[in-house]
Amino acid sequence: MKEWGSFDKITNAKGVWLIDSKGNKMIDGVASMWCNVWGHSNPQLVKAITTQSKKLQHSSMFNLTNEPAEQLAEKLTKISPGMYKVFYSDNGSSAMEIAIKIALQYWKNIGEKKKTEIATLKNGYHGDTFGAMSVGYVPEFFGKFKKQLFSTIQFPVPNKYRTPEGYSISDYQNYCLEKIEKKLSKNNNIAAFIMESGAQVAGGVIIYPKGFQKKISQLCKKYGVLFVLDEIATGFGRLGSMIQYEEQNSIPDIVSYGKMLTGGYLTMAATLTNKKIYDSFLGEFNDWKHLFHGHTYTGNPIAAAVANENLKMYQKNHLIKKIQKSSKIFEKYYKEISEIDIVGNIRHKGMLMGIELVSNKIRKTPINPKKSINKIFFEEGKKNGVYLRTLGNIVMLVPPLAISEKELNLLLNRAIKTIKSARLKVI
Ligand SMILES: Cc1ncc(COP(=O)(O)O)c(C=O)c1O
Repeated sequence: MKEWGSFDKITNAKGVWLIDSKGNKMIDGVASMWCNVWGHSNPQLVKAITTQSKKLQHSSMFNLTNEPAEQLAEKLTKISPGMYKVFYSDNGSSAMEIAIKIALQYWKNIGEKKKTEIATLKNGYHGDTFGAMSVGYVPEFFGKFKKQLFSTIQFPVPNKYRTPEGYSISDYQNYCLEKIEKKLSKNNNIAAFIMESGAQVAGGVIIYPKGFQKKISQLCKKYGVLFVLDEIATGFGRLGSMIQYEEQNSIPDIVSYGKMLTGGYLTMAATLTNKKIYDSFLGEFNDWKHLFHGHTYTGNPIAAAVANENLKMYQKNHLIKKIQKSSKIFEKYYKEISEIDIVGNIRHKGMLMGIELVSNKIRKTPINPKKSINKIFFEEGKKNGVYLRTLGNIVMLVPPLAISEKELNLLLNRAIKTIKSARLKVI
């Protein structure tokens, strides 16, 4: 905050454009934290919100339910193979806390008291609350709380750009999978394996090689470990398919959704489980098998109403097909981007691109300027009419999913211009 002083005020937004209090327009290059689907001020989504807000704004889901939340649960289980029930919350971190609690309690409910450990991937990210920080431990973000976090068993992730010397990507993938199998086969106390589905996003856009996620799901089945997926950032089209685990051929026991669920308009997340897990929570009152978890705004009807409209629009507008087509536009720019002297690597899938900045292309040394890269890119981006946010040394391009082809070309051109002009400030 000391460095920034104050922030620009966004007063309104339309389509992919953010407009500040001085009337400046910026293209929303990060989909307002990776959640915007149809652009801002979409009339259908706004109508869904206003219509529902006149009927019922909120009523608790303790002992009660509401129509939009029920409809949404039905839709979510329908589109999510293997899933049976939905538990609502109001942000992705909470959805992951719930996933962790359900996974741990499942084993208690069925009388397996020793299964209390959690396995994860290094470099994963699952949110900023304590459970989420524990399972998605990013040292730079969470080092100050390390003592208070619970420990997990972490495994390496294959990253094609940074495979250890002497390994091809497929050798290294096998190495990682062998390590996982060795541990799962020997340790009977592992309750769950938790990972992001399809790619690690906040960890630097690490797109898993083909077969990696599927093999982990198979190992979990083989060794009696619950397989828990986080699709908060990668599901609902971000990586080019509606349900990323379906594309990866890896049905989980528990999955979390967030971000795009309401089209990026209201705060809502969901944790889904299969029937086996749901049934383990059923019992007589004094069996104490129920899940002690609930938030004030769980199942909020306005959020659920806009999520329902959002899902309807995915179908009606064939959004996933459209994304698959517009994703190809990114490819046209690979050459131009990779030729910039500070660009070490481009990673892209669907509507997500990570551009890794290095100070030495041969040694792949991550760029490390004295000032915040994020601030430099924000300021340069603003001059070029684009809102960008970097994560460490990665420039993230995460546009609203339904961005038009013309706007996506504009975004890419402005991002390239920004990398070129920011270049002088970061080297
Ligand atoms: C994969 C993943 N999981 C969980 C979260 C946390 O979601 P929220 O910020 O809504 O708490 C994020 C947020 O970026 C995420 O990328």
